[in-house]
Amino acid sequence: MKDVKIESTFTVFESSKELPKEVASLMKSASEARLKAYAPYSKFLVGAAILLDNGEVVTGNNQENASYPSGLCAERTAIYYAGSQYPNAKIKVMALTAGSQKQPTKTPIPPCGACRQAIAEYEVKQDFPIEIYFMGESGKVVKSDSLANLLPLGFDRSFL
Ligand code: THU
Repeated sequence: MKDVKIESTFTVFESSKELPKEVASLMKSASEARLKAYAPYSKFLVGAAILLDNGEVVTGNNQENASYPSGLCAERTAIYYAGSQYPNAKIKVMALTAGSQKQPTKTPIPPCGACRQAIAEYEVKQDFPIEIYFMGESGKVVKSDSLANLLPLGFDRSFL
């Protein structure tokens, strides 16, 4: 028997002002998408913006439903749209921002487990890492160099 240690390294930016230009612009698109979220139940608005290798930017936000489980997170709204519209494009970067309408959200908000699984599908499919930047409405931004970094021991197509 042996122990296996898995480590993840993240980069923390003090604010979105420190981001590379291209990423700052993507985060701005994510913020604009967040403000259009439909979240009347949780009052928690999430925006996602995806940069593809063909230069296109695809955005999405959370879409809630009176039947709560029927709603969908911002990340999956965006990535499924990207997958449906640009099936051959690679996803280079995802920018995520989340904020509550009840109080200011200054801490970085990471994607939920279901969204990590959904993003992992595309990272495995394209065999190229997806950079993920996430933040609240303001404050620090966290960067993960890949989805795998956020989802160790993931389940993927290789097991099927
Ligand atoms: N939400 C997202 O859009 N992305 C996440 O990764 C976590 C949660 C949404 C779902 C729901 O509309 C609201 O935030 C509260 O959970």
